[in-house]
Amino acid sequence: MASGVSLVILAAGKGTRMKSALPKVLHPLCGRSMLGWVLEAAAWVEPDQVVLVVGHGGEQVQAEAEKEALDLGLPQLKVVVQKEQKGTGHAMQVAAPLLGPDPGIVLVLYGDMPLIRGESLEDLVVAQREAGKRAMVVMTAELDQPDGYGRIVRNAEGALQAIVEHADADAEQLEIEEINTGVYAFDGALLLKNLARLKPNNAQGEYYLTDMVSLSVGDAHPVVTVTLVDPLEGLGVNDLAQLAGVRQEVQYRILERHMAAGVSVIDPATAYVDYGVLIGEGTVILPCVMIHRGVQIGEGCEVGPFTQLRPGTELHDGAQVGNFTECKNSILGAGSKAKHLSYLGDAVIGKRTNVGAGTIFANYDGKKKHKTHVGDHVSIGSGSIIVAPNRLPDHTTTGAGAVITRSAQIEPGETWVGMPAKRHRSKS
Ligand code: UD1
Ligand code: CA
Repeated sequence: MASGVSLVILAAGKGTRMKSALPKVLHPLCGRSMLGWVLEAAAWVEPDQVVLVVGHGGEQVQAEAEKEALDLGLPQLKVVVQKEQKGTGHAMQVAAPLLGPDPGIVLVLYGDMPLIRGESLEDLVVAQREAGKRAMVVMTAELDQPDGYGRIVRNAEGALQAIVEHADADAEQLEIEEINTGVYAFDGALLLKNLARLKPNNAQGEYYLTDMVSLSVGDAHPVVTVTLVDPLEGLGVNDLAQLAGVRQEVQYRILERHMAAGVSVIDPATAYVDYGVLIGEGTVILPCVMIHRGVQIGEGCEVGPFTQLRPGTELHDGAQVGNFTECKNSILGAGSKAKHLSYLGDAVIGKRTNVGAGTIFANYDGKKKHKTHVGDHVSIGSGSIIVAPNRLPDHTTTGAGAVITRSAQIEPGETWVGMPAKRHRSKS
């Protein structure tokens, strides 16, 4: 069923304050772009159409947005390039022709506010419907440090009169702690008509979308605000310090979901778990771990402390990876352990195998990466180096400090010792 909502996301800005070649909205937050988080929230309102305005790094931004839109079940994006960034009002003018003549409610948001929640966007759409035809709704937030944001200026009766940008505000207006989050719900038909009336007569010489407020007030059309209960949702990211600031909240939300699903996270402050990680019930995440996007962890596992699980890692049920161990593109079978000081690179390890302290899977020969296959019930002695490609069949053992050169022909059940390791024949 059609929701009657058109969504516009503005993401053309260069993000000058980021001091980075990467387009601002593509900066990663816990394994996902800032824009990805915004799109996830936007998907909540099930928009009938989505218009994305891109500029700097347009192709890159478009590619990322299309990938996310597909995953989120959003309609095919309508992408428009804003060649010159002349302000948020100008960006909306560029987007307007793609909306068609009857876009219903137009929900506009900026691509640099990754903490916004879908439920809050829904509230805004509902408020627009309740405020009636020709109404405009602005999402606001109360911030202790409103520096940099547009301020919400109200009259004596408390009605919204205007949004004044930080650069244009006088001393009194700068004291206002209620800010514009940059999310709006418009009567689409009225928005399309009014866009042409924006003028760049301000400190930055830009077309401000925020001027739609004073236009609507002047025409005596309803202008309503919805204030966020959780002001964090309204935070915009303009520089790397702000990016780091919102990271904590994004991280906590990810961990909360895992904890709700039965994963124990002993110290959420030091558990760096990306978006898109699967973790089974009963697994314990100890302090100081970094788990990258795409990693899959089974039930009843233990990870950490001080562990990094890089892309391509799979831990099957009951597996344990401990202190100062790094895994990359490796599978650790059910009940297997790599508890201390090891590197598991491109290794496929079976069930109930023990990887002794200080084991290295030497997967890189300087040119190419190679795989090592380790069977079930294998015991790898402390300090072993296993040069890939290699194969350690079921029930084999390596002695402490063994160096297994590449493609050693190890037979099931054998023990290999020494440096480089040779077949060990027992006297009996
Ligand atoms: C904007 C608001 C401000 C609000 C703040 C919330 C205006 C004029 N100001 O300020 O009231 O408090 O967001 O975070 O709207 N963009 C384009 N094309 C442009 C300019 C910007 O697409 O020509 C996009 C940017 O990519 C960004 C968004 O619009 O995603 C906001 O632009 P930004 O420059 O960050 O605006 P702020 O100064 O933060
Ligand atoms: Ca901003």
